[in-house]
Amino acid sequence: MSIVNIKGMLQHAYDNGYAVGAFDLVSLDFLEGIISAAERCHSPVILSLAESHFDHYNFKLLTTAAESAAQETAVPVAIFLDHGATLDSAVQAINAGCNGIMVDASHQSLSDNIALTRQVKGMAHACGVPVEGELGYIPGVEGEDAERHPGEITYTTVTEASEYVQQTGIDFLAVSIGTVHGRMQGEPQLDIERLQEINQTLNIPLVIHGGTGLGDDQFRQLIDNGVAKINYYTALSDAASQQIRANAGNDGTGGYTRLTAGVREAISMETERCMRLWGSAGQAGAVCQPWLPVEHLIVYNVTPISDDEVDGMMAKGRQMLSAIPGVRYVLTGKAVKEDAKYRFCWLVRFVHPAVIDSYRNHPEHVRFADELFRPVAGDRISIDYQLTRSDW
Ligand code: 13P
Repeated sequence: MSIVNIKGMLQHAYDNGYAVGAFDLVSLDFLEGIISAAERCHSPVILSLAESHFDHYNFKLLTTAAESAAQETAVPVAIFLDHGATLDSAVQAINAGCNGIMVDASHQSLSDNIALTRQVKGMAHACGVPVEGELGYIPGVEGEDAERHPGEITYTTVTEASEYVQQTGIDFLAVSIGTVHGRMQGEPQLDIERLQEINQTLNIPLVIHGGTGLGDDQFRQLIDNGVAKINYYTALSDAASQQIRANAGNDGTGGYTRLTAGVREAISMETERCMRLWGSAGQAGAVCQPWLPVEHLIVYNVTPISDDEVDGMMAKGRQMLSAIPGVRYVLTGKAVKEDAKYRFCWLVRFVHPAVIDSYRNHPEHVRFADELFRPVAGDRISIDYQLTRSDW
């Protein structure tokens, strides 16, 4: 099944009364543990990469690993930027392989939150990528002891949620109704009535951050009232840490592989528990809108410039064009045989067919094409192909 469109994934969950887990990864142990749980449960899954964790791993490397795991598995997977802070981080994430984006400006004023979310949504939708926004504030740090929830003052209000969704055009809304990131202190109190009203007003998939520490009944109530995506990390981190502490306690001289033995399995068990509890187990076959990239191919001849000048033009093009939102990579090539009908080529991978237009109209593309490429490459053919399988 491989990578799927998260919009279809979450709409199916929303329409059918279950939630998909968005599990934050911080290492390959997390990635392997989460994917193996999804396979055992036959469940769709969201592999999340939270910007707040970027000091702990190389984002591009872990995203590449997530993409590779997604391509190899039979269950539907989406790769998601969690708590993206800026427009730039959203662009970087899309170009690195994320096919869903969260923009988190929830600590800002409503108007500033709307302004940034609109900007990110405009860019992401032009790349075909769905967007989650957050309104109301969810305190705490993933993986650590949580603050007590400051209460109603930071809750999402129905009126503001309505204005926010209307003005931003986001696809999914993360709401603040009593959860916190990190380990809960005491019994979490959730404002389910508020959630119900938000759901009835908005009718879009809702998201809960701070899934760790909620009870089974609370999860059921959340899902019954429109929550289709549950963000979850601290409990996985705690399962991993407990395993490492147990290994260390049994073995004072253990090296890295002995200390981390069983971590993957501990993460996987907790992930499986969630998938069964939230009802995503068994739904893999129902989520099937594949996420298929597009290859933009140009073959061309040049005149009147030399091969060295073509090399310079291609280097400039690789640099300028690869930064455009929705471009995964830009490859340039030269025909192996001197007498080939066309001597040079560009191969540009777009994340989605929507990028065909947004790329063509992007100022950097227009500048490169008008000033450097078209004047010397009048003899050319260009074509856009959508790949036919998602396990590319
Ligand atoms: P927990 O760490 O509390 O499970 O929350 C995770 C989260 O919301 C990530 O966005």
